[in-house]
Amino acid sequence: MEEQHITQEMKEAAARAAVDSLVCSGMKLGLGTGSTAVHVIRRVGELLARGKLKDIRAFATSFQSEIECEKLGIPVFPLNSRELSGGLDLTIDGADEVDPRSRLIKGGGGALLIEKIAAYASASYAIVVDESKLVENLGVRFPVPVEVIPEARVTAALALEKLGAQAALREAVRKAGPVVTDHGNLILDIRFAAPQDPAFLEAELNRIPGVVENGFFTGPPGRVLVPRVYISRADGSIEVRGN
Ligand code: 5RP
Repeated sequence: MEEQHITQEMKEAAARAAVDSLVCSGMKLGLGTGSTAVHVIRRVGELLARGKLKDIRAFATSFQSEIECEKLGIPVFPLNSRELSGGLDLTIDGADEVDPRSRLIKGGGGALLIEKIAAYASASYAIVVDESKLVENLGVRFPVPVEVIPEARVTAALALEKLGAQAALREAVRKAGPVVTDHGNLILDIRFAAPQDPAFLEAELNRIPGVVENGFFTGPPGRVLVPRVYISRADGSIEVRGN
């Protein structure tokens, strides 16, 4: 219980550090999903309410983020809207794993599809995590989420197994049956026995028919994604990696 309390504080500390150093008035701002990213939204809401920030046009990466923004009066727009025109100045999000090259696994909250669209549409990208998310190799401890259309549940799992992965359909907790994403899809959580090349797999997994997106975040083709990573440590310090 005590450990959980500390972790919540650590999540909040990383989120506040990122917002306070990166978010400026007038920004088109992508807001991530999860128990760390929610503190980003709350901090933005607080600064808007105090008049320290103005004229933020936000993009929410999930129903969770959208509802949180609604509660706090943060104006949210679709990415296709005239206000955002498909581009963001900055996105701040959480992550499930961060490797030494700041490559990521995301999608623990099932929002990987829109989170990746936001990340790849952003001029700057920041990640907020506590130190428990740091790993040497991605995908060994935390499974990589793969979002598939419902019709491809079995065929995609078989194709993933051919690539050497073990695939498990993600089950819902307070609903019978599988998790259904914000876009009506299912999630196969996949594990590999040994470390893999994340950049190769990010592209390769999406070649399987019926796969919509996967949780490796290494960058769009031809461009490496290097987020600025805010890491909160148990001793109260914040480490910042990247530009
Ligand atoms: C949601 C995500 C989250 O950012 C990721 O799962 C981390 O969540 P948390 O901060 O709750 O540990 O990718 O799809």
